[in-house]
Parts: sequence; structure tokens; C-alpha cells
Amino acid sequence: MPPKTDSFIGSPRTQGEVTCDDASVDPQGKTVIVTGASSGIGEAAARAFFAAGSNVVLAARNRVKLEAIVAELGQDRALAVTADVTNRDQVAGMIDAALARFGRLDIIVNNAGVGLRAPIDTVDPADFERLFQVNLMGPLLAMQAGIRAMRKTGGGMIVNISSGTSRIVVPFLGGAYPALKRALEIMSDYARAQLAPENINVLVVLPYLTTTPFGANALGQAPGPPPPEFAARLRDLPPAHTAEFVAEKILEGVRGNLTEVSLSPQYPSR
Ligand SMILES: NC(=O)c1ccc[n+]([C@@H]2O[C@H](COP(=O)([O-])OP(=O)(O)OC[C@H]3O[C@@H](n4cnc5c(N)ncnc54)[C@H](OP(=O)(O)O)[C@@H]3O)[C@@H](O)[C@H]2O)c1
Repeated sequence: MPPKTDSFIGSPRTQGEVTCDDASVDPQGKTVIVTGASSGIGEAAARAFFAAGSNVVLAARNRVKLEAIVAELGQDRALAVTADVTNRDQVAGMIDAALARFGRLDIIVNNAGVGLRAPIDTVDPADFERLFQVNLMGPLLAMQAGIRAMRKTGGGMIVNISSGTSRIVVPFLGGAYPALKRALEIMSDYARAQLAPENINVLVVLPYLTTTPFGANALGQAPGPPPPEFAARLRDLPPAHTAEFVAEKILEGVRGNLTEVSLSPQYPSR
């Protein structure tokens, strides 16, 4: 069931873990696309949905990695699709491939993303533009194509992977990455309100620091270690999560038909 939107003006933006009125979602037998499934959180999420009985489409640019995962899972309920989320035709091809193979699309996890640690005064505009393309335009294109597919079968769920950095200012991270994650959350809130009557829910998941190659894959020049005053505070933070833990939380969010799951210790789920 879609989340409740109380009035024409709409629902307030949410924080913490928020439930919809009704109805859990059973991933068993559902068709799920996970973008950025060749690594980290996306790979773990694809494996978790597969273990829960879903048909899983693993999408990313690195075909070799995707095919190795699919070979392990078996071809019956897993499909590798090469798609760059910044390319509209490839995103459309990803949705078409899911429909051709499994006949429907129920859930799309917009997880593909890159990092960028650069201060606002010196961030390279070309890096910012690339960040925008991958972290915001990518989810938009996938949502648009995914919504068209979900409408054919009466509904579905969009899961957008944001970041706890959108809710807390950590100066040495710079503002570019958190700004676009916050934009993704706002886009998600509006999409949820718009799509509720069509039985399409939008879940936002905000991972905390997670052990993946995300830092090594970040855009821009390697920014070096954080300044000493932040390094000390970072050491005091709770330990990073595993990608598998985040994947289980994504699955819980889907099962509960939630609208938001925040894994950040600073902004824990209610
Ligand atoms: N790790 C953290 O601490 C952390 C914390 C908060 C939020 N997050 C968010 O979690 C998500 C996953 O990150 P991660 O930690 O799992 O990082 P990761 O291990 O670097 O994985 C990123 C994935 O995105 C894919 N990707 C990158 N650019 C792409 C493009 N243009 N088109 C399609 N796929 C693309 C990569 O695959 P290919 O290179 O094969 O395309 C890879 O599968 C991101 O949205 C990130 O912002 C991460």
C-alpha cells in the first residue's frame, strides 16, 4: 500500500524510520532491479533479494563482475545487465531486459553512486557535473523508466539510496556529495506523494559509513587524510557497517513498506 498523504498540501518530509499505513511487501517472487550491483551495498542487496526469493536483475557497467555474481547465483532468477545509469538508452534497456526476462518490474533499487570529497570553494565543476549525472540524474532516469513499467502491473516500490551525510554537516567531506543526496531525498518525497494513488511507494535508505570500495572509487583527486581535529572525532565514531547489514536493512524497509530507513547513529530510525 502507498504511504498516506493527508492533504492536498501533502505530507511533511520525513525523518527516521517511517511506516506506511498498511501491508507488508513480500520480496519472494518479485522482480527487483538493483543498480550498482557489481560492488558493495548493491551487490549485497542483490544477494539479499535473491536469498529472499526475488528475481534479481543486477545492473552496473562492469559486466565481468556482474556475470561472475550471476554465475554464482544461477541463471534461473538472476540476470546481469550492463547499464550506465547516466545513459537514458541504457537505463531503458535495463528495464526492457527485466521485463523481457521476468515479465514485470516490482522493485527498483537506485543504489549506483559515486563519492566526491571536495570543499565547495575548490570543487572541480566537472567533478560536480559528473556527480550530478551519476547520483541524481541516474536515479531520475531509472525512476521514470521504472514507473512506466510498474504502472503496467498496478504498482511497485522504488528504493533510493541516499546517505547519512545529507543530514549532518561534516565539514571535511565538502558539500557537493551531501547536497545531491539531499536533492535525491526531496525528489523521492515528491515522487512518493505523486505516486501514492498508483500504489507505488518510494523508500529512502540512508546508509551510515559502510565498508565498501566507495572511497577508493570516488571522483576527484585523492583528498588526503582528514585534518587532525576531524581524524580524532572520526576515531570516536561507531564502527562502519558491513554492506550485508545495509542490505538487510534495505530488505526490511521493503518488507515493511517503509518510506525511510536511516542507519546513521546521529539520525537513528525512530
Ligand atoms: N560506503 C559508504 O560509506 C556509503 C555511505 C552512505 C551512502 N552510500 C551510498 O551507497 C551506494 C553504494 O555505494 P557503495 O558503498 O556500495 O560503493 P561502491 O562499492 O563503490 O559501489 C558503487 C556501485 O555503483 C556502480 N556505478 C558507479 N557509477 C555507475 C554508473 N555511471 N552507472 C551504473 N553503475 C554505476 C558501480 O559499478 P560499476 O563501476 O560496475 O558501474 C558499483 O557497483 C551509493 O549510492 C553511495 O552514495 C555509501
